Amino acid sequence: MSTRPIAIVGSGAIGVAFAVLFARAGRTVAVFDIDDAALDRGRADVEARLRLLADAGLLDEEPPVVAARIGWHTDAATAARDAELVQECAPERADLKREVLARFAAVAPSDAVLASSTSAIAPSVLAAGLAPDVAARVVVGHPGNPPYLLPVIEVVPAPVTASGTVDRAAAIYRSVGLRPVVLRREIEGFVFNRLQGALLREAYCLVRDGIVDAADVDEVVRSGLGRRWSIIGPFETSDLNVRGGIAAHAERMGESYARMGAERGQHDPWTPELVARVAAERRAALPLEDWDARVRWRDARLMALTPLWDEVG
Ligand SMILES: NC(=O)c1ccc[n+]([C@@H]2O[C@H](COP(=O)([O-])OP(=O)(O)OC[C@H]3O[C@@H](n4cnc5c(N)ncnc54)[C@H](O)[C@@H]3O)[C@@H](O)[C@H]2O)c1
Repeated sequence: MSTRPIAIVGSGAIGVAFAVLFARAGRTVAVFDIDDAALDRGRADVEARLRLLADAGLLDEEPPVVAARIGWHTDAATAARDAELVQECAPERADLKREVLARFAAVAPSDAVLASSTSAIAPSVLAAGLAPDVAARVVVGHPGNPPYLLPVIEVVPAPVTASGTVDRAAAIYRSVGLRPVVLRREIEGFVFNRLQGALLREAYCLVRDGIVDAADVDEVVRSGLGRRWSIIGPFETSDLNVRGGIAAHAERMGESYARMGAERGQHDPWTPELVARVAAERRAALPLEDWDARVRWRDARLMALTPLWDEVG
């Protein structure tokens, strides 16, 4: 693992959480904010989060040892010195983020990856107006919140982003325990919020139409879909729900799902070609002869988690 520091710009919820993530993995971290009070809050927040992690048995070192790896700065040049990665965590405003990226590009090493934590702004919007060599180092690294507990991070390139930037960002994230998912091209909402949005849109419709209350939707996810999704994703869920895997599932359920979509004005049928593509990917990951064993594995994982869920209530 590189020994170069990580610069984090913005000492709010996500900046602090990234500081915890990187410092816990042994990296030196420099947090920058324009606001002294935000830095003070950030420092206190880090201490509290590290204490909670330690109490949960999730920290290998004493909290002060981890906290000592984090420096707090109002000077951009000091924060960016030697940085391998600048992780921008400023408020969700394109103009502000562009300004922050340009400012840090001017003081960070010329090979530093310039990643934005933005939840929704396209990387091409963030890279607009930057010199081509700087824009080539801009990428979105959209975390779950908090990233030290939700390991997925979406790595989203703009058309101008160099492929080396994407590879380096993914490698850095991977080296601290994150599980990067690299998008081939930018799309509004990336993947995380598009999936979340699909579910939320239907949830709102169900409440609007008086089918159930909001609490009922939450219960279906909390006690059903969500428990399974904590182990396997929606494609693997479908794959394991019907003997014969994803192709058999699509044959059995495809028309019904198409009607449900059409009812909401969505016409994106699972064509035979599309199903075949997903099925091929699933069969490469799980040959059908291993299907029964994987179903037993899923159930064993659910059993292992059941006492925890019972405790959480
Ligand atoms: N909060 C979440 O759940 C979440 C999840 C994923 C991604 N994100 C994204 O992360 C980013 C940060 O979100 P947040 O929730 O931490 O915001 P926040 O409001 O908690 O923190 C923003 C911080 O940026 C600082 N700041 C303002 N102007 C600045 C500047 N010019 N230079 C440096 N710092 C500046 C503020 O003082 C503040 O401390 C946003 O783009 C957001 O969309 C947030």
